[in-house]
Amino acid sequence: MNRTVRVDLSDRSYDISIGHDLEIGTAGAIPKNCRAMIISDSNVEPLHGDWCRKKLDESGIESDTHVIPAGEESKSLNTMAELYDRAVDLHLDRSSLVVALGGGVVGDLAGFLAATYLRGIRLVQVPTSLLAMVDSSVGGKTGVNLARGKNLVGSFYQPVEVVVELSTLKTLPEREYISGLAEVVKYGVIRDKALFESLEGCASELLSRNMELLVDIVARCCEIKAEVVGDDERESGTRAILNFGHTLGHAIENVLGYGEWLHGEAVAAGMAYATKLSERVRGLNSDESARIISLVSGLGLPADWHGPGGDLAWQALRNAMATDKKAMGRIPRFVLADTIGEVTFGCEIPEDVLCEAYGMD
Ligand code: GLY
Repeated sequence: MNRTVRVDLSDRSYDISIGHDLEIGTAGAIPKNCRAMIISDSNVEPLHGDWCRKKLDESGIESDTHVIPAGEESKSLNTMAELYDRAVDLHLDRSSLVVALGGGVVGDLAGFLAATYLRGIRLVQVPTSLLAMVDSSVGGKTGVNLARGKNLVGSFYQPVEVVVELSTLKTLPEREYISGLAEVVKYGVIRDKALFESLEGCASELLSRNMELLVDIVARCCEIKAEVVGDDERESGTRAILNFGHTLGHAIENVLGYGEWLHGEAVAAGMAYATKLSERVRGLNSDESARIISLVSGLGLPADWHGPGGDLAWQALRNAMATDKKAMGRIPRFVLADTIGEVTFGCEIPEDVLCEAYGMD
């Protein structure tokens, strides 16, 4: 059965529809007979572009499509310049829509275009990767990378509608699907023990992409994200809990070079590290710590950080954590688990504990 989750942000509230054979472009905030620019990438557009255009057409929305090369390299100011030019060529106006059809890179770029073109036009997110469905398409973070760092330019800009068509997951490569499961595990650890336990009990069905199960799991993740974003849209406090596993995760991505490990893989290793820190400084019990690490590995995710990139020098990682944009005065901050389902953000860790939990003496 299809599900709807509301993101409650007063006049910026919107619905996330989750399920099968969903409509696109029907939110009340979308003007009738408007035009849309679909932004997609070279992997997704050949698979789902026709479906998206048809759905928009059924809602009375004419569309043009702009395809960018797949991959993190596209998340640049150069691509943004191309997108602005195309928006002008298409004569998009304040009644027009930007539709993001793809994963996180497409969603972030399309979101930033919508946030800034003509000082803001409507945005619809149609995520096609598991990671985008449960995380990046919801909550309004948009932006691009600079040569000197990831997501250094961006804005908070909420979509008017998010359409999570689960059948698009059928074509998602296995490695990317599994990478998305890291963010699913994250929601269980940060807010919902029952979700965590249900993941422990259904790992094999999850890995076989059981669609009935996915409706409920994706909807629960979106509910948690909606609650967290509803409480702290601009990350002045509790939204930081969504960064569980991301302190080391971002450092791994940075040290290995973006694309070597997928985001969810790096976050998985980061969650395992944060779990070990939690045991040492937050009193997370060893049984729960072992369960988190075992769920991560059981889903085929890396539960350590010495994976396929060869030796990762601790000093390089430590330095990357110090220069992360969420560090304060070069001191990295961690989200740590007190128990499964409850976390504390903004934790500073003594240097010897950071080293010892990593495996350095
Ligand atoms: N991906 C973390 C957040 O949306 O805040």
